[in-house]
Amino acid sequence: MDAEKRIAELREIIAHHDYLYYVRNTTEITDQEYDKLYRELEQLEKENPHLITPDSPTQRVRGEPLKKFNEVIHSPPMLSLENATSESNLFEWEDRISRIVKEDSNWNYVVEPKVDGLAVELLYENGLLVVGSTRGDGDHGEDITFNIRTIKSIPMRLSKPLDIKVRGEVFMPWDGFKILNKNQRESGEKEFQNPRNAAAGSLRQLDPKIAAKRPLDCFFHSLVNYSDFEIATHADALEFMRDIGLRTNTDNKLLSDIRSVYQFTNEFLQKRESLPYMADGLAIKVNQLYIWDTIGFTAKAPRFAIAYKWPAEQGITRVLDIKLTVGRTGIISPTALMEPVRLGGTTVQKATLYNMDQIKRLDVRIGDEVVVEKGGDVIPKIVEVNYQKRKEYPIEYFKGIFSDFDDSKYLKETQMAYSCPSCGSDIVKDEDGVYYRCLNPECPAQAIKKIEYFVSRGAMRIDGFGERYAEILFQNGWVKNIADIYDLEKHTMEIVMLEGFGEKAVDNLLIAIEESKGNPLHRLINGLGINGVGAELAKILVDEFGSFNQLMASSIEELNNVNGVGEILAKNIHDYFRDETNIEIIERMKSAGLKAFDEIVSSDEKQKTLDGLTFVLTGTLQSISREKAKEIIESKGGKVSSSVSKKTDWVIAGEKAGSKLEKAKALGVNIADESEALDKFLG
Ligand code: IVH
Repeated sequence: MDAEKRIAELREIIAHHDYLYYVRNTTEITDQEYDKLYRELEQLEKENPHLITPDSPTQRVRGEPLKKFNEVIHSPPMLSLENATSESNLFEWEDRISRIVKEDSNWNYVVEPKVDGLAVELLYENGLLVVGSTRGDGDHGEDITFNIRTIKSIPMRLSKPLDIKVRGEVFMPWDGFKILNKNQRESGEKEFQNPRNAAAGSLRQLDPKIAAKRPLDCFFHSLVNYSDFEIATHADALEFMRDIGLRTNTDNKLLSDIRSVYQFTNEFLQKRESLPYMADGLAIKVNQLYIWDTIGFTAKAPRFAIAYKWPAEQGITRVLDIKLTVGRTGIISPTALMEPVRLGGTTVQKATLYNMDQIKRLDVRIGDEVVVEKGGDVIPKIVEVNYQKRKEYPIEYFKGIFSDFDDSKYLKETQMAYSCPSCGSDIVKDEDGVYYRCLNPECPAQAIKKIEYFVSRGAMRIDGFGERYAEILFQNGWVKNIADIYDLEKHTMEIVMLEGFGEKAVDNLLIAIEESKGNPLHRLINGLGINGVGAELAKILVDEFGSFNQLMASSIEELNNVNGVGEILAKNIHDYFRDETNIEIIERMKSAGLKAFDEIVSSDEKQKTLDGLTFVLTGTLQSISREKAKEIIESKGGKVSSSVSKKTDWVIAGEKAGSKLEKAKALGVNIADESEALDKFLG
């Protein structure tokens, strides 16, 4: 047989065994036999490099490390699920559905474990994986195709040449998570807090070789363009996905009514500890797809599905110390350091105590036995102190597990600190009486946190500039404030000399800093770290004032008139721009050439409701010419393109629409007929 044929045959055989192993959870050959086939393919491809194709199983890890991820627009947006936490929540949900659908409708439910990982969207064209992306903010995600390709249970080619868009959850099974953390520990690297963080951290690596080493897996739970196929129920959609090679969770269950669904949530809770993956509840979905189409979505979530969240897990442990840390805005927050306790599959050693009043309320003391709780996303917290056990653990007990245990604080009432743990300045209670703050503008802890905030993803997004850099660059005096970041180049040689800072890493950092100069104004305003101004408000301020200079010159009254800005906040913002140190920092960033300072959002643009959206017009429109429609879309900031691709947001289909409409359906692109388009975009 010639090489070309054998290569094709081997790929098919390997794909078949991958399918059996990953999707059907069964095998027909031994690992050794599989390896033999794989090696034969590798060898043949080596001898015939012109026959290598991207979908070959040998080509999962491809490409050089990226500089940054490209953006992918999600259409339709990737929403989240509304939560239910009780039986009555489930019945209320069912009632809400009954009120919208026709009286004679009958439906049942599919219940799926809500696996804790990272939501992804995959696009297959002609059966080939073309784009894999993260959820991001729901509308825009990141293109992580190279990393997705490294996940062995995700096929690079489906068993049928279909155009489909699917969504699922990439996760790290407990087994793999434990091994990964063991390796991290042994090589002196930071361990991951839980499998979700580990999965997310792995998929956000710019180098696919790293993701390839991480034990990632994926369950698919949504067929986005189901209407392109003859599929009537979600259960059929799951089976359809499974048949073409996309792994679905075998714990999924079809149930006839909401009462059995509730029963199942409790039964499944018993199994929670023994599941091979981390799950925080169940996703419950109406099975009949015509009901999905009838009841649709709220702004944030589908009406046809809901998440049933299990209660937070609790554990018992002992408090070893209470540490005070200083945040970006000077708020002092206490954290309890505890004897390690297993909770929700991970080891917990820290719990937030929120503020000093909480310590008083709980009367928690160093040495106490406490009940800690951790729900899905949240930081563990102490919910109860077992006072009756106060004397049960003698001081020797604590010294045994914590050699430098501080006797002087053992079981003493926790005193409020009167000075900042970082700079020693006096601290003051906030006007609202909850938080204590360090008011020293030069407090090192605050300065480091401000730098961290400025470079973080929500603000200026300087990749590679994390906690570690912020701390070290500050300690060395090279970055004392955010303006110094743009002067960092002059310290290149000194940084490279530091242990653990390679030339390449420093180079990449400087490139990322340079790139951040092109960021839009709202990111800069968020990054300034003005007390009370976050990402959302930053966008509103840009819309209101149109430019940095206008915002800076605004009066307290003007600020107070902005939606969401009260009197105190208005004064805060105003004062920020009158402070000499801040003015100097701003001036230095202006001279560094940050584009945001020149950005002017005209009042016209504020009306550009279709900003960033791409449209394709097809077929004949009755009430308006295509030219006119194009003009209107463009005047509102939208783009009109002549061909449909996965980047198209909307196809407006008039009468006798042909192949473009078909393609839009295949790609899962939103489609509007003339009357919907008039309503939504052209009116
Ligand atoms: S359905 C409109 N099914 O939970 C959202 N989601 O809050 C439809 N998740 O972001 C999602 N397992 O990442 C669905 N079997 C499952 C899921 C699941 C995990 C995640 C998903 C989503 C979040 C919803």
